[in-house]
Amino acid sequence: MYILVTPGWRDDPNRMKALILAGGKGTRLKPLTNTIAKQLIPVANKPILHYVLEQVTSAGISDIGIIISPETGCLIKEALGDGKRWGARITYIPQSEPLGLAHAVQTARPFLGDSSFLMFLGDNLIHGGVDVFVERFTTGEADALVLLKEVAAPRLFGVAELDASGEIVRLVEKPREPVSNLALVGIYLFTPEIHDAIARIKPSWRGELEITDAIQVLLDMGRTVRSHILEGWWLDTGKKDDLLEANRVVLDEFLQRDVRGEIDAASQVVGRVTVGEGATIENSTIRGPVLIGEGCHIRNSMVGPFTSIAAGTTIEQSGIEHSVVLENCSIYNIERLSDCVLGRCAEITRRGDGFKATTLFVGDDARVGL
Ligand code: G1P
Repeated sequence: MYILVTPGWRDDPNRMKALILAGGKGTRLKPLTNTIAKQLIPVANKPILHYVLEQVTSAGISDIGIIISPETGCLIKEALGDGKRWGARITYIPQSEPLGLAHAVQTARPFLGDSSFLMFLGDNLIHGGVDVFVERFTTGEADALVLLKEVAAPRLFGVAELDASGEIVRLVEKPREPVSNLALVGIYLFTPEIHDAIARIKPSWRGELEITDAIQVLLDMGRTVRSHILEGWWLDTGKKDDLLEANRVVLDEFLQRDVRGEIDAASQVVGRVTVGEGATIENSTIRGPVLIGEGCHIRNSMVGPFTSIAAGTTIEQSGIEHSVVLENCSIYNIERLSDCVLGRCAEITRRGDGFKATTLFVGDDARVGL
């Protein structure tokens, strides 16, 4: 008699895994990141990490490791749970300190085993998802596939130099004098060869084990590293303006008209606007694309375009455009707010007593532009 033993799917080296990085301190997005993980900041009222999970699982990968930090790990766990919502199985992997992307891969080694994997920075998103790249990588021979995008300020990124035939010849992290304007997007595909390469690198000037250096070592080892230059958008939501841009792009691309709340006869709702259950719009103009969450109250105001207002927010006698407002904010008597990001329960009010004084009560690391 034969007993057929099928290996547990977690240990199957032929099955592609994903490693999503959701650690780090989010310094560039303070003060929001004092109380929220940067990967959970909403874009079009949905945490950026949810889009990442959607893109990863839609590429057919369900065994997902998520790197978390001691500071925000519990928030990430709370937001994603066991991953069933996306048909995924999530393993949380604590990284004690943010010592670099390659360090995160090292930390995840017990989870990754000898599988090939898709590595995805939890605050990055690309147009059209990753399906085609996963397909191309799993059916090809390369040990790494990196995505590149032309950027205006390559010094802020890892940068790739290509030869005349389009093959990568060199990769440099945050170069002072960039050899090209092709930045490394925070989405990579690797075979387990990357672990040998990581074992050979040293921390960079910023004290981090850089994945860029490890990919350079792969090249030096004579391994094949392929690249693809993205034509569509790439969103890296690590800074305030990037977050606003991400919100603009996502609203522009995905928002549908869906009005569930109550809109009175004196209001005008133009274009692609979503209004959640229990929201009320009175004597106001909403110019899409605009997303208004459940239970918001908008009176005598102008909202939009390119604005996301999360649930429970009240706006009266005000104007707001190209902005992201988190839950339960209050905005009263402000003629025109533009390019704003407001954290939860923020209150912005102009006093009606005739005084011209500006009265502020702002938290640590807040930024106010008057
Ligand atoms: C990291 C990588 C860099 C890459 C970037 C993409 O940079 O080190 O090579 O271009 O992500 O978002 P960091 O966000 O750590 O500055």
